[in-house]
Amino acid sequence: MLVEDNPARHRYEILVDDALAGFTAYLDRAQVLIFTHTEVDAAFQNMGVGAALMRGTLDQVRGHGQRVVPRCPFMAAFIDRHPEYTDLVTNPD
Ligand SMILES: CC(C)(COP(=O)(O)OP(=O)(O)OC[C@H]1O[C@@H](n2cnc3c(N)ncnc32)[C@H](O)[C@@H]1OP(=O)(O)O)[C@@H](O)C(=O)NCCC(=O)NCCS
Repeated sequence: MLVEDNPARHRYEILVDDALAGFTAYLDRAQVLIFTHTEVDAAFQNMGVGAALMRGTLDQVRGHGQRVVPRCPFMAAFIDRHPEYTDLVTNPD
């Protein structure tokens, strides 16, 4: 599974065997990304794809020195379950 940013579409995408399996969309506020919605294709749900997408996205956000506003409830729940990402969370201005 490969997670990569698609800045033209304002979303991180996850590929499974080269097929687009899901995405998590954001509003770009430069040093802060506001995540609004996550979707995994029905054929790939409940297989850990959503969790891999969260991990890959948050690791890359950290690598860029950015923070997140997890307005998406799936991301918020993921961060609650994985407190190693809590320090990435900030409030919108
Ligand atoms: C919600 C969604 C993105 C999850 O993706 P997925 O690939 O099926 O999720 P995973 O298999 O990686 O599951 C990861 C964990 O998230 C949990 N989870 C599933 N759906 C959830 C939801 N809507 N909210 C919070 N947690 C959820 C799972 O129980 C699982 O927990 P576990 O690791 O303790 O077993 C996907 O089912 C989907 O696209 N649903 C339709 C759109 C939607 O409801 N989006 C969420 C609101 S933005």
